[in-house]
Amino acid sequence: MMDTILNHRSIRKFKEQAVGEEVLQKIIEASSRASTTGNMQVYSIIVTQEHILKEKLWEAHFKQNMVKQAPLVLTFCADFNRFNKWCRQRKAEPGYDNFLSYMTGAIDALLAAQNCALAAESFGLGICYLGTTIYNADQIISILNLPHSVVPVTTLVMGYPDETPELSDRLPAGAIYHKEQYHDFTANDIDRLYEEKEKLPLTAKVVEENKLETLAQIFTTRRYTKKDNVDFSLRYLKVIHCQGFMNHEK
Ligand SMILES: Cc1cc2nc3c(=O)[nH]c(=O)nc-3n(C[C@H](O)[C@H](O)[C@H](O)COP(=O)(O)O)c2cc1C
Repeated sequence: MMDTILNHRSIRKFKEQAVGEEVLQKIIEASSRASTTGNMQVYSIIVTQEHILKEKLWEAHFKQNMVKQAPLVLTFCADFNRFNKWCRQRKAEPGYDNFLSYMTGAIDALLAAQNCALAAESFGLGICYLGTTIYNADQIISILNLPHSVVPVTTLVMGYPDETPELSDRLPAGAIYHKEQYHDFTANDIDRLYEEKEKLPLTAKVVEENKLETLAQIFTTRRYTKKDNVDFSLRYLKVIHCQGFMNHEK
């Protein structure tokens, strides 16, 4: 297991080779063994293989090539639809149309997704997450026919790798690990923790190409700008509302 975890790299080029149904079913089983809130399993996984649907998903995911190329596209959703139906069929009135319930489903979906990713990698498959799921969730809802009480949270593209990228860098453990209580960072800590990342040859190249001064500016002015973050936040909040997770009347 440690080998699988420590060798993870996102894969963005896939062979045409299909993923066998037996392997897929084992991966789904591994996904379903993830912990979930109250064992309610308030998530769902939509596995898309059809060319026409993948083409539509590709558009929604900002035309990222791997969506068309990967044999499988798995969309993980926060899903109270099934659970609410079960409650109502069993004379129980669900109160799961609020933001906490959305978060509950989203957490379940993400834990299942990471189990799914590791299981796939243990079978020699490659995966890449797609953050674009929450940017264009409204489009994905319509493409995948998601009913009320279902919201897409993340996507994995999956298939046999046709590339072996270098392991990507990570910050030193001190950046994410706090003993006993949170120890806030001094300016020196920040310099030390980001030193290695900032010294990578790729960093210098990207900063220079973009005619910027620092790597942080790549994030704030190119990759994840305030404007985009606000625009996509508002769209996603609308989706959560329309799918029925914003009722806070008691
Ligand atoms: C929630 C999430 C969303 C991501 N979205 C994208 C994406 O839209 N496109 C992409 O190429 N990579 C995406 N990635 C992959 C990250 O870029 C990648 O995990 C990170 O650069 C570290 O590289 P590694 O996974 O190879 O270790 C995403 C990863 C996560 C966890």
